[in-house]
Amino acid sequence: MGFNRQNGELYCESVALSSIAQEYGTPTYVYSRATLIEQYNLFNSAFHDHPHLVCYAVKANPNLAILNQFARLGSGFDIVSGGELQRVLAAGGQAGKTVFSGVGKSEDEIRLALNHDILCFNVESSEELLRIDAIAQSMKKQAPISIRVNPDVDAKTHPHISTGLKSNKFGVPWQEALQLYQQASNRPALRTVGIDCHIGSQLTDPLPFAEAASRIMELVDNLGRMGIQLDHIDFGGGVGIRYKEEAPISPTDYVSALMAHLGKYKHQILIEPGRALVGNSGILLTRIEYLKQGEDRRFAIIDAAMNDLIRPALYDAWHTIEPVRERSIMPRHYDVVGPVCESGDFLGKNRLLSVETGDLLAILSSGAYGMSMSSNYNSRLRPAEIMVDNDTCFLIRKRETFNELIQGESLAP
Ligand code: LLP
Repeated sequence: MGFNRQNGELYCESVALSSIAQEYGTPTYVYSRATLIEQYNLFNSAFHDHPHLVCYAVKANPNLAILNQFARLGSGFDIVSGGELQRVLAAGGQAGKTVFSGVGKSEDEIRLALNHDILCFNVESSEELLRIDAIAQSMKKQAPISIRVNPDVDAKTHPHISTGLKSNKFGVPWQEALQLYQQASNRPALRTVGIDCHIGSQLTDPLPFAEAASRIMELVDNLGRMGIQLDHIDFGGGVGIRYKEEAPISPTDYVSALMAHLGKYKHQILIEPGRALVGNSGILLTRIEYLKQGEDRRFAIIDAAMNDLIRPALYDAWHTIEPVRERSIMPRHYDVVGPVCESGDFLGKNRLLSVETGDLLAILSSGAYGMSMSSNYNSRLRPAEIMVDNDTCFLIRKRETFNELIQGESLAP
């Protein structure tokens, strides 16, 4: 299932990628519905009958069809903005299964979330706690809260996507958490429902998860002694995927490890996976515009660019690049680059490819933080998105048009 080769040609489920390119053009993001479902089920079923909620991290890929797919499977959601909440609602997701993370929740966003009765706010500072309290009072509501604790563990991932060190802006310092819970318990407009942490993304080593979990459980012990009871424990997201040769912890082993950390406790467990649910369910389909021989290297210039998939430029991230059709010509090394006017505009460097001008390439593992981080830089129109379900393609976002690009702009007379 997912992405597979048939007679030397790359398919998504039962659809040839070349036929998608022909019908919808390139660059286009292509997602396998079967892979999305399979990944969700791996996490979900690993809990057996222990109470839990998988809260898909919307930021990884917020397309409505993807949110709707997870909602239909019973998923909850982790959001970080009012826009993400509105997407969840528009896609048929439930506010009551949605947790709201992020260090900078605005007054409007807090009001919106309270109006829709979200599951809880993952509170990231004492000022935020006071703001939520004041808004809840003014709306004559009780705000469900969970404190996002910064457990100060090293996630051993790329520094830009590590969040659980005390030098990061995220969460409340471990030592201050109890005090904040105490403060919350004295405010009738706040209802303490949980505890939360998230230490970083694309973690491949299980150890930092275990360290964070034991620090959180220590706090749960202390809270119990203070008479503060919680409904749930949210261990955040961060499970990595294989881009190249990584061997990340499997969803099943990850969930089993979390349940083992609970020990005698029976709390509901929340997790917030993003990348592990969607990353390997998507590819970016692109066409080679030109092959160019530079002074000391060859370039394959494609019609996708850093504005479509910024991970290589931003994090030096590796995405495997494969020709859609295999050719029996001598492979050569290419820097695979886009048309954007920046030297950082590359999708892969020094890749051995047997290709000719006009060939299609698939940039793998692009389902997470691909389209969601895309931009219109260089006034490029953002790609179409297709969801494949066995032998059927659904256009889940049409290619942007020039009129959409300039919509909202006007001349200053
Ligand atoms: N929960 C919270 C509070 C988060 O901040 C994140 C991701 C997640 C869950 C989901 O993490 P995941 O399971 O996807 O690792 N743009 C970067 C990744 C940034 C992640 C930000 N937070 C990239 O392309 O690698």
